[in-house]
Amino acid sequence: MKFNFGVDYYPEHWPRERWERDIELMKEADINIVRLAEFAWCLLEPERENFDFSWLDEALELLQAAGIRAVLGTPTASPPPWVMAEIPDAFAVSALGRQRSYGGRRGYCPNHAGFLEHCRRITRAMAGHYAEHPNVIGWQIDNEFSVSCYCPTCRISFQDWLREKYGGLEALNEAWGSVFWGHVYSAWEQIPVPFDLGVHPTYGSSPGLELDYRRFLSDTIVAFQKNQAEILRRLCPGHFITHNSGFGFKDVDFRKLSKDLDFVSLDYYDRIFDNLSMDVQPEIAGFTYDFVRGFKKRGFWLTELQGGPSGWKTISTTPRPGEMRLWTYQAIAHGAESIIYFRWRTACFGHEQYWHGVLDHHGEPRRRYDEIRATGQEIRRLAPRLEALEEVKAEAALIVSYDALFAFQDQPNQPDFTYFTYMKRWYAALFNQNIRVDVIPPDAPLDGYRLVLAPALYVLAERDAAELRRFVEAGGLLLVTARTGVKDTCNRVVDRPLPGLLAELCGAEVDEYEPLPTGVSVGLDMRLPGMSAAAESEGAAAHLWCDILEPRGGGTVATYREQFYAGRAAAVLNRAGKGQVLYLGTLGDEALRSMVTAWLVKTAGLSPAGRVRLLPAGVEAVERLQEKRTLTFILNHTDRTQTVELTGPCRDIVTGEVSEASLNLKAKDVAILEKMEE
Ligand code: GAL
Repeated sequence: MKFNFGVDYYPEHWPRERWERDIELMKEADINIVRLAEFAWCLLEPERENFDFSWLDEALELLQAAGIRAVLGTPTASPPPWVMAEIPDAFAVSALGRQRSYGGRRGYCPNHAGFLEHCRRITRAMAGHYAEHPNVIGWQIDNEFSVSCYCPTCRISFQDWLREKYGGLEALNEAWGSVFWGHVYSAWEQIPVPFDLGVHPTYGSSPGLELDYRRFLSDTIVAFQKNQAEILRRLCPGHFITHNSGFGFKDVDFRKLSKDLDFVSLDYYDRIFDNLSMDVQPEIAGFTYDFVRGFKKRGFWLTELQGGPSGWKTISTTPRPGEMRLWTYQAIAHGAESIIYFRWRTACFGHEQYWHGVLDHHGEPRRRYDEIRATGQEIRRLAPRLEALEEVKAEAALIVSYDALFAFQDQPNQPDFTYFTYMKRWYAALFNQNIRVDVIPPDAPLDGYRLVLAPALYVLAERDAAELRRFVEAGGLLLVTARTGVKDTCNRVVDRPLPGLLAELCGAEVDEYEPLPTGVSVGLDMRLPGMSAAAESEGAAAHLWCDILEPRGGGTVATYREQFYAGRAAAVLNRAGKGQVLYLGTLGDEALRSMVTAWLVKTAGLSPAGRVRLLPAGVEAVERLQEKRTLTFILNHTDRTQTVELTGPCRDIVTGEVSEASLNLKAKDVAILEKMEE
């Protein structure tokens, strides 16, 4: 298969006379794929059952003539006004009880039977019309699922979901601890949806109900997608089906969602308007790609990669020269099998008139187009070397749990603690040491890993705790941090000393704990075995949280320096079977994380990726395999020339140049190295 390189194209935003010029410019840039129509329901079905595919057919014909294939989006993220006018009770209701009105996107209740029927009709019509179209290769269902609805329809669906899950009310009351505040339910119809008064959460719902509601909403989206996937599978057996997840991942378990897809797609923007900054964070891109790569344990498509400054009300900094090319290769290195930039030409109207595409509003080719064109031509030249790349098996894994994510959303424990950000920070600590990481769910098998990080694994299932024990006893190295094992899967706090099911394995118990106010730190004395005195004297501190530990078989490797718990254990290292587990009783700071990670990497005997002896900060090395040959992507994310020291002579397949012992890489440049003798 030819490597897919393309753009998100909205021909319906431009006069028909312009289309040929667009397609000509695309062709020059070696674009061979476009995504189309995911917001075009109102044009495809301007009135009920009155379909008009003529404009899309015409665009597809022009694209086909230029050798550009298409992925079509089902347009259900944004129904036309007439659809919603037919079903006014389908507008979503927020947790504060406010109902949406027409406008924006995703304004509907995903459980509304009438809306689901509308979705089936447009999907059936599109699928029927395009099943045999020679230029259509697959489907994106909807657009960037997220979910938040608390309407009466959802309430009934939630009650049904609970009936299915618990079978009887006794089990539900037990699981939620409904006896608290006297909420014991005697009929399914009595069960509410969680509510939010938007004030101090004194009257909040039960944590058991909250977690189940988030799981329910997530399952709702899985069902919402299935509603269309079944039609597409039946009518378009020759096409693939994907969905483009946004990179928020807040409220839908994309791992479950991916089961009905052929592969996962992702939208990712490095420069974001709401965080106006000159810098980008390549480690966050790395985390996101590796997280998504884990959904189906296979490569993914990048359906939206930044083509210009992003923005709605305010505008982000613009991609620096070389950055879009660099991001393209970073994504490929992490598993992207297709690259599509958002969007072709910047819209002159609508909510996204400042979300810039490859072309600016005026439509004339400028710097960003030139870079995309050069990248497209380069990718076409390299395509045979970029296809069918396989994973180099990671030796380290980071466990990211949707249950923990959902439960922390309701109860962050410390006001500034954000689980997902915390996961990204641990990932970054490994990224900075150039260690390849798999981001895995808590029920993933751990065989084959040497190091597993389970930070703040807040909701812990018995089975997953047993797997962690098995992993350590078989010789693995495990990191556990504060707020691990706090809850059972019903979101009840466990009735034993923390870290609950892992206390024995960790050789320590939490004697007492306290969150720290943001900005307050408590100094630590850290003495990890084999750590140099220099590293010790760097100092480290506890932030956000302090567990006061009581070793129970494990050895103290860090103590607090201050507070009434000065001298008490802050971290404990324990041996179990052939392996070890480090319990870190805080949520840490960056210095502490990087110190601990350096020790973990060394102790687990992990080797950094690539044929590199020394990698400067801000330069990333990622290995991929092609027919057993290793390719090392070297990505210079900095804005200076960097020198990378190699372990032996390598050829850069991009330039063809051979480097003996070191490689000079310009700012934002990329090299893809293969070892000479291979
Ligand atoms: C994505 C979305 C696109 C567009 C883009 C820029 O989240 O899928 O439709 O909105 O961001 O905001």
